[in-house]
Amino acid sequence: MALSPQWLDELRARVTLSSVVMRTTKLTRAGREWKACCPFHDEKTPSFTVSDEKGFYHCFGCGAHGDVIRWMTDQRGLAFMDAVKELAAEAGMEVPAPDPRAAQAAEQRAGLHDVTQAAQDFYRASLDTPAAAKARAYLESRGFDAHTRERFGFGYAPGDRQALKAALKQFDEAMLVEAGLRIAVDDKPPYDRFRDRLTMPIHDARGQVIGFAARILDADKKDAPKYINSPDTPLFDKGRTLFNLHRAGPASRKTGRMVVVEGQMDVVAMAAAGFEDAVAPMGTALTERQLEMLWRLVDAPILCFDGDSAGQRAAMRAIGRALPMLAPGKTLSIVRLPAGLDPDDLLKQQGAPAMAALLADPGSLIDTLWAFEKAASPLRTPEDKAGLKARLIDHCEAIQHPDIRSLYRRELLEKFSAFAYPPRPPRERREWRSGFARPASPPLSPESAGRLRKAASGANRDALASAVVAGLLRFPDQILVHAEPLGRFAAHDGRAGPAIESLIEAAEMLEPDEKGAISAPQGFAPPPDNSRFAFLDEGADPRAAREDLAEAVSLLVERPALDAALAAATARFETDPEAAFAEQQRLLKRKLAFEKRLGLMATRRAASAAHPDSDSPSAPSGATDEDSE
Ligand code: UTP
Ligand code: MN
Repeated sequence: MALSPQWLDELRARVTLSSVVMRTTKLTRAGREWKACCPFHDEKTPSFTVSDEKGFYHCFGCGAHGDVIRWMTDQRGLAFMDAVKELAAEAGMEVPAPDPRAAQAAEQRAGLHDVTQAAQDFYRASLDTPAAAKARAYLESRGFDAHTRERFGFGYAPGDRQALKAALKQFDEAMLVEAGLRIAVDDKPPYDRFRDRLTMPIHDARGQVIGFAARILDADKKDAPKYINSPDTPLFDKGRTLFNLHRAGPASRKTGRMVVVEGQMDVVAMAAAGFEDAVAPMGTALTERQLEMLWRLVDAPILCFDGDSAGQRAAMRAIGRALPMLAPGKTLSIVRLPAGLDPDDLLKQQGAPAMAALLADPGSLIDTLWAFEKAASPLRTPEDKAGLKARLIDHCEAIQHPDIRSLYRRELLEKFSAFAYPPRPPRERREWRSGFARPASPPLSPESAGRLRKAASGANRDALASAVVAGLLRFPDQILVHAEPLGRFAAHDGRAGPAIESLIEAAEMLEPDEKGAISAPQGFAPPPDNSRFAFLDEGADPRAAREDLAEAVSLLVERPALDAALAAATARFETDPEAAFAEQQRLLKRKLAFEKRLGLMATRRAASAAHPDSDSPSAPSGATDEDSE
């Protein structure tokens, strides 16, 4: 590549965005930013902002967003290289001479674009020949009007194995093969890839033809695949292409929405029904790269998949890809169509309003994940239920972003607890109450109380463990939420382990509506250096405190594994120094990230101490009455 990302960053840094925007759009100061009526859509009150600090413009009305180069291409209509040249001249920077190899590759791609465009012209023209009667009838049968047929560039690939070759005489065989239009195997004469099929061009984001999808016309040809797509070529990379993106991208600016359907024909049906913002992958699961492309356009692309099990599995595959990539604000929405219907069927049977209603009310990623895993296998036995919990935790572990991970963990485990520990029926409870002496609150034996007092006050010299114990005493409703990881930790920790085990035991004996009934043992004192942990603050917002506590629990549970791995790496130094060093470095990095997360809690504390805004300080006993969530 001729222009390195570093060079482009330098260019962006040297040009002041507002000074460029100001040439065509009237800007007014708004604090550290600038405001204007958006030049990308019609409006009376300004929702367009320019931030020189961030180097971005953004419209809260239509979603137009970009840097200074993007401004030049999108607002001024310049080609990318022309925009770069103009800005570089202004910034006094020299545009680096193109690398000859990159230039050659670009030239070759330009040549291939000519080939694919010529092929499109040929297929399109062939659709009007007598041989294509079947293809025209097929389009008719699908109910696409002339405008839709024209817009999507439907064509016909003749049955003759040499038809395309004869029509594209100006290009050599090698180029036709390279463009994926002809197949050359071993010593056999090359032949056309697409024969006797309905063709649809596939475009890149700029609208250039890069490949084709071709549908079979004879329903009785059972052994042939229904669709054939172009193979990967220098122009066409399946995993980096979304069908119809060049039209759906601009449309999504207006709708603020992006819909992903499974089939290319579904995209056509959607557009015919007025939904211009739909794309489809190329018959494969969504790739990371495709997710990135979608997230550049909208925060929450809507996956619109079939309601049957195949469609749901496809949605889950996409969710699996998305989890590690989730970032603040970036997610997926999911629309589940009625079983057995694809978008095209739904539009035909129930019409555009039915589709609009579904798209207006998509499910969230987390709800879909929960519903899918809950339905994935029978949940009759405790073992089945524990399996569900393990799968949920695995999904959470896949999330890279720490806040999103801990929020997912918390919300999914809450759903799980509500399902796995439902309130006991009232009659049974009455009997239980009259039949047995009800355990006094707190339901802690004197030994447990003693252990807890010691653990929570920091006597075991483990600030994090002490804080977690003290936090669980303040928020007893959280004990069962984290019972599984806490149990694992307790089993291997001789110091705080017994205290945590008593807490879990006590919590398991409580009635569901008695969440606040574990009170701290007498003589309870907060750990000496609780200053680091916001959730121990008397005035902390209970919701935020519970979230911080969840993060502290996950840190506590991660720590032994991290320490053990570090010790193992150190031990390996004698036998395999090189590998041990690399491993140690990797682990130290993780340890650093760990310390940073720990540190973040302190920062948050400092912030909340500066603005004490809670109105429900907890009782000094540590018992809580804050279950108002
Ligand atoms: P579908 O079979 O669901 O497609 O395959 P569809 O859009 O409903 O097809 P119609 O309505 O019968 O024409 C979904 C996608 O999977 C890929 C294609 O990309 C298709 O759009 N596919 C399907 C193939 O690549 N090859 C096949 O043989 C079938
Ligand atoms: Mn279909």
